[in-house]
Amino acid sequence: MIQRPNRAGLIAALDTDSAERAEELAAALAPHVGLLKLGLEFFVAQGSAAVARVTRHRPVFLDLKFHDIPNTVAGAVRSACALGPAMLTIHAGGGPAMVAAAREAAEGFGAARPAILAVTVLTSMDAAALAATGVSGGPSQQVLRLARMAMENGADGLVCSPREVSLIRDAHGSGPLLVVPGIRPAGSAAGDQSRIATPGDAVAAGADWLVVGRPITGAAEPAAAAAAIAAMVVG
Ligand code: C5P
Repeated sequence: MIQRPNRAGLIAALDTDSAERAEELAAALAPHVGLLKLGLEFFVAQGSAAVARVTRHRPVFLDLKFHDIPNTVAGAVRSACALGPAMLTIHAGGGPAMVAAAREAAEGFGAARPAILAVTVLTSMDAAALAATGVSGGPSQQVLRLARMAMENGADGLVCSPREVSLIRDAHGSGPLLVVPGIRPAGSAAGDQSRIATPGDAVAAGADWLVVGRPITGAAEPAAAAAAIAAMVVG
């Protein structure tokens, strides 16, 4: 499984449906980032062969957020592991048995298995949206509840917003690998992200890996943008 970085690591999110664009970015960014994140937009459009092509440049974080019955998620994790990703995501909301099934399926791939990361509460959900799904008490409480359940059932780490990093560190110490999107270098556009932090603040709070998309992929020179962010965070 992937090692925890010394200080923190940088992950570039390649949010595109184009295999050519992803490969172009992968080639340009490879010297500056630890991992390349591919999500559903890319995977649904381009499939596993395109994931393999990106993996030739850097290890991949396959962010497919599995959420189904345990048997189905176990099968999906095995299929995903065959592509050799460094990290995979599941939804903690799938419950203890689903999280455990994902971990067990990954274990079948031995030491080279990906880290299983649990997504707790989507950062797009506020207290009102959570209440509409029957969850009272607000996002922080639900994040902590799901984080504890996921870690107790075999997750290697969690995806969380910058504002939740210290909350989770306080509750779990250094145990969980914390992978944190919503990162914006000072002065860059927030876009649709609302719970944001600078790279330095996220690392100071205890993030292990920072996920950065548009501040890199939308820059005139993505490689230079990645290098500048890496210089701030990578130890
Ligand atoms: O472009 P930007 O830096 O906002 O991209 C962040 C990446 O992290 C995107 O791929 C987004 O889907 C992902 N992400 C997120 N918030 C989460 C989970 C994933 O922004 N809670």
